[in-house]
Amino acid sequence: MIDFSLLTDREPIMIHLKYFFSFFIIFFIVGCTESPNDTSAIEESPAIDTDSPEYAAIVFRQALLQVIAYKSGSVRNMADGEIAIDEEKFAKDANDLDAAVNMLVDGFIEGSSRDSYPNSFASPDIWSNWDDFLEKANNLKTATAEVNQLAMTGGFVAAQTAAQELGSNCGACHRPYRIRND
Ligand code: HEC
Repeated sequence: MIDFSLLTDREPIMIHLKYFFSFFIIFFIVGCTESPNDTSAIEESPAIDTDSPEYAAIVFRQALLQVIAYKSGSVRNMADGEIAIDEEKFAKDANDLDAAVNMLVDGFIEGSSRDSYPNSFASPDIWSNWDDFLEKANNLKTATAEVNQLAMTGGFVAAQTAAQELGSNCGACHRPYRIRND
């Protein structure tokens, strides 16, 4: 004989189990969803101290190098005949470029290489070859001072050749001391 009362007795238990598993699934879904406060991904990469003098120096020099790139680009493009000659603009950009280059070394303080700050592309070799790095910075400084001087005294025509030759100083320092992105 089959006892049907057993089946009906089990029904309430099945309902309880259904609720139990629903809760389980909800907790599982919530657990898998990344909350905005989840910092585990950030904690895995080496922490960058954004309050440090080194971090401030990196932000400064990267911004300054953008200024240098913009102003030297303008001066060089005019010298190469890619944009129209504008004496006033040439003289101003040559002057701005020279002033910006004057600050370049200020941004390279000790302990601010890519080894400690992954947001920087500065090689640690800069500080182990400091005199050579300084020489490369000074070569650019000499070149921008010359362009500026010639622009002030003889105008665009006098400064054109020196302006065309500026660019070699960028690569001369980037090759040994700037870490490539790839
Ligand atoms: C004395 C060395 C030196 C000279 C000279 C130099 N650079 Fe650089 N440049 C660097 C280094 C080192 C970096 C990487 C800096 C960092 O990320 O901390 C860099 C980075 C840059 C960047 C990227 C900045 C950013 O937003 O991260 C630009 C643009 C740049 N240089 C342009 C120039 C141009 C243009 C010239 C020449 C007119 C020049 N540089 C001359 C060393 C130099």
